[in-house]
Amino acid sequence: MNFKLNSRNQPVVFSLIKDVTLTIKREDEIHPYISGNKYRKLKYNLLAAEEQGFETLLTFGGAYSNHIAATASAGSEFGFKTIGIIRGDELVDKVSDNPTLSFAQKCGMELKFISRKDYREKSSPEFIVNLKNRFGDFYLLPEGGTNDLAIKGCEEILTENDNDFDYICTPVGTGGTIAGVINSTNPNQKVIGFSALKGDFLKEEIAKLTTKDNWSLLTDFHFGGYGKTSNELIAFINKFKEETNISLDPVYTGKMIFGLVDLIQKNKFKKGTKIIAIHTGGLQGIEGMNSILKQKGLETIK
Ligand SMILES: Cc1ncc(COP(=O)(O)O)c(C=O)c1O
Repeated sequence: MNFKLNSRNQPVVFSLIKDVTLTIKREDEIHPYISGNKYRKLKYNLLAAEEQGFETLLTFGGAYSNHIAATASAGSEFGFKTIGIIRGDELVDKVSDNPTLSFAQKCGMELKFISRKDYREKSSPEFIVNLKNRFGDFYLLPEGGTNDLAIKGCEEILTENDNDFDYICTPVGTGGTIAGVINSTNPNQKVIGFSALKGDFLKEEIAKLTTKDNWSLLTDFHFGGYGKTSNELIAFINKFKEETNISLDPVYTGKMIFGLVDLIQKNKFKKGTKIIAIHTGGLQGIEGMNSILKQKGLETIK
């Protein structure tokens, strides 16, 4: 398998930023469909699956999951059969209305829809045995793609060219990406995670995944929870795009940059601080979010 995983650092000029410098690490550009951190998380898992002789990857996700889209695309690119266990049995006849699921299906992913109640059992050994009886043997990727090999992949996001940055910012969902990033920092650098989910439980999760303590998790910028947005957030994403030509997704990177700009405006960083924010991708989710916003008569993402 041949992976090309180099991203560029793009300094940005944005009217709401003063006294500090902001660079975006364009991980979103490393592949057109296997977006940003998803590729990093998949890399060593794909190698392990191949080495162990698996022909099928099986994973879990919600209706608009970046991980489902990325796994489906990786399967078609690297020759694995893919199975996606999707949360919500009501979605079974709505695939054609859902850009993420129809993309996954076009990549060859077999979709199996299960109720939200059954979905909660997805980590139990009995549930996995039932899946093996139904689908045959498979390499299991957890929801969101986070496991030890995923963290190893995310340790490669920062390179020696990034040693000069004082702060490294990343969005947080399950905590795997930030754990890899923290592991590869120098002691003089600080990592700030912006949680896309409500609740403080993620701090404990992240602490379990890394041994360093040069990081913090901000939980004030989730906009009501996972997948929730507001007019203010969408307007911000559109303004950022207009001024920098960089698209942000509404679930992860948009919330991170919104939060970061808020901190900069409140002078939380010393003058001259060098900040790099990791663009973890997720842009495939814009189409699905836009159709929800359109139905509600709200401003959409440009
Ligand atoms: C685009 C994007 N950014 C960030 C994250 C958060 O990564 P993690 O789950 O490793 O915290 C995810 C998904 O999980 C994602 O899809």
